Amino acid sequence: MSLPADSSVLATSLRTDPCGLLRRHDVGRTVRLGGWVHRSRDLGGLVFIDLRDRTGLVQLAFGPGWSAPEVQASAAAVGVESVVLVEGEVVARDADRVKADMDTGEVEVRVTALRVVGPAVTPALPVARNRGDKMPAEELRLRHRYLDLRRPELQENLILRHRLLQVARRYLSDNGYLELETPILTKPTPEGARDYLVPSRVHPGEFYALPQSPQIYKQLFMCCGFDRYFQIARCFRDEDLRADRQPEFTQIDIEASFIGQEDILAMAEGLVVSLWKEAGVEVPRPFPRMSYAEAMERYGCDRPDLRYDLALQDYTPVFRALDFGVTSTAIANGGRVRGLVVPGGAAWSRKQVDELEALAKGAGAGGLLRVRFAEGAYDGPIAKFLTDDARAALALREGDLALFVAAPDRISSPALDRVRQECARRLDLVRDTDRRFLWVLDFPMFEEDPDTGALAAVHHPFTSPHADDIAAHPDAPAKWRALAYDCVLNGTELGGGSIRTSDPAVQSRMFALLGIGDVEEQERRFGFLLEGLRAGAPPHGGIAFGFDRIAMLLSGATSLRDVIAFPKTTAARSLFEGAPVAVADKDLDELHIAVAADVTRGAISPDGQGA
Ligand code: AMO
Repeated sequence: MSLPADSSVLATSLRTDPCGLLRRHDVGRTVRLGGWVHRSRDLGGLVFIDLRDRTGLVQLAFGPGWSAPEVQASAAAVGVESVVLVEGEVVARDADRVKADMDTGEVEVRVTALRVVGPAVTPALPVARNRGDKMPAEELRLRHRYLDLRRPELQENLILRHRLLQVARRYLSDNGYLELETPILTKPTPEGARDYLVPSRVHPGEFYALPQSPQIYKQLFMCCGFDRYFQIARCFRDEDLRADRQPEFTQIDIEASFIGQEDILAMAEGLVVSLWKEAGVEVPRPFPRMSYAEAMERYGCDRPDLRYDLALQDYTPVFRALDFGVTSTAIANGGRVRGLVVPGGAAWSRKQVDELEALAKGAGAGGLLRVRFAEGAYDGPIAKFLTDDARAALALREGDLALFVAAPDRISSPALDRVRQECARRLDLVRDTDRRFLWVLDFPMFEEDPDTGALAAVHHPFTSPHADDIAAHPDAPAKWRALAYDCVLNGTELGGGSIRTSDPAVQSRMFALLGIGDVEEQERRFGFLLEGLRAGAPPHGGIAFGFDRIAMLLSGATSLRDVIAFPKTTAARSLFEGAPVAVADKDLDELHIAVAADVTRGAISPDGQGA
């Protein structure tokens, strides 16, 4: 619960106290309370109501000794989730009626006056839940978000979110960062997703983009001399949604001047430590570090979950000597045989290993080779091809299952990453209470399309390459590493950033390498950044943390939807407000937009909103 240091500020002309703060020392006071009817019990002679507000519950008692008959009658009649104002006296409960599991459990309020100020229709889903009650379906919860948000769990999540935001603001402000705002109606900022576009009414055929991040603006702030910036920034990305992605999300966005990578990492660790501390968790510093190359080699993933090992290994030398078609062909084509050894995996059934293979295939691999070593014998399709040398090199122990993918790394890495994660889950190696923070450093600057050879920025086009790599391989940009870093926790990317290119000529070259060679096009799309850089730019860099992800992890929620007040579904719809909507033709006309004839549009309601 997050309350002002002096909770008396919560008193108003309508209430003397919030519900959840009444204690034994209040006994004898006459109080006025307001809240929602959480539960009520009518015992004939006595009526009890649990009254709820954001601070908690308190029991109201209505009885013939102190409540007038009409007060008791309206208490018996009031529906759950109605809002009432009451007045009464705080009394101590008898020792045998004290409720130890309730903060206000030592007292109750004997009500003398009751006013139903906000009668409620029958709620579409229950707010009060008993232990063990099943949660209503998520779709129903999202549809009736005004009720779902009344549940104490969601209230706690959003209150924690508020506290974390205050901590971030205080930490950054104390370190000299200025909270500055950037536009929402803006120009496309490439962060790797599609843009949400907003049509301009006054400029027919022209569109604003909602920001995928404030990236360019924060760099411009550095060119303007603000030196240190932060923003709790809303970002918009039209991408395929997953549990840890929302189309509209919040970043703690940070940029600073006259800094190098170490400065940013130190500042960011300090921020993370103070956020986790707010949630009651001490995080040791400094965070371990790993290069991108090592993360990919050992875990097949640039955000490895280090709560368990099951590291990948290169078995190419073992397989190179074997006469086994699948692996020989892959190796001859420049691929490798990589895999992992799963202790105890030999006990898994064929079906269970087939399921692992399905995961590997789902991630793009042609298959998953397997060999198990149980009761002193090798078993599996490749067992008979294993020479004595190969067996010695594999060094399997009793109960081991070895799994391999023979392919180029870009295929084996994601496949083995999935397999590794699933093996850890099955072996129950994942401890929720473990926290393995990690910096992943030295990302490649570009990734190369295997078919066309075209380069794409791994972080974003404004990231600075390692000067050493440009010097060593001036004509091989695919070999350049970037001064980019990701902060990872237990397999989740919490945040990422980079040192930027502050030299406009280098920035222009970066655009050219990314296929925007035409200077006019560069100016049209990014002129506002290039001009800023040309006007005198300090060395600068920054980072952005995914704030919703942090709030989710710290509240113990498993979905971003449980820490965002009004989230979207995985189909990018808000079920409560009912967005997006079809709009009336006259509105489209005003925006100079025509919807393609083959699109089936939702019904349009009389106020112009889609049904
Ligand atoms: P990046 O794209 O890595 O960097 O985003 C930073 C962090 O934002 C979070 N995040 C998301 N959270 C919820 N839903 C999403 N759809 C989503 N997408 C990203 C992640 C991620 O680590 N401008 C750069 C930062 C910089 O270079 O300073 C940027 O936006 O936790």
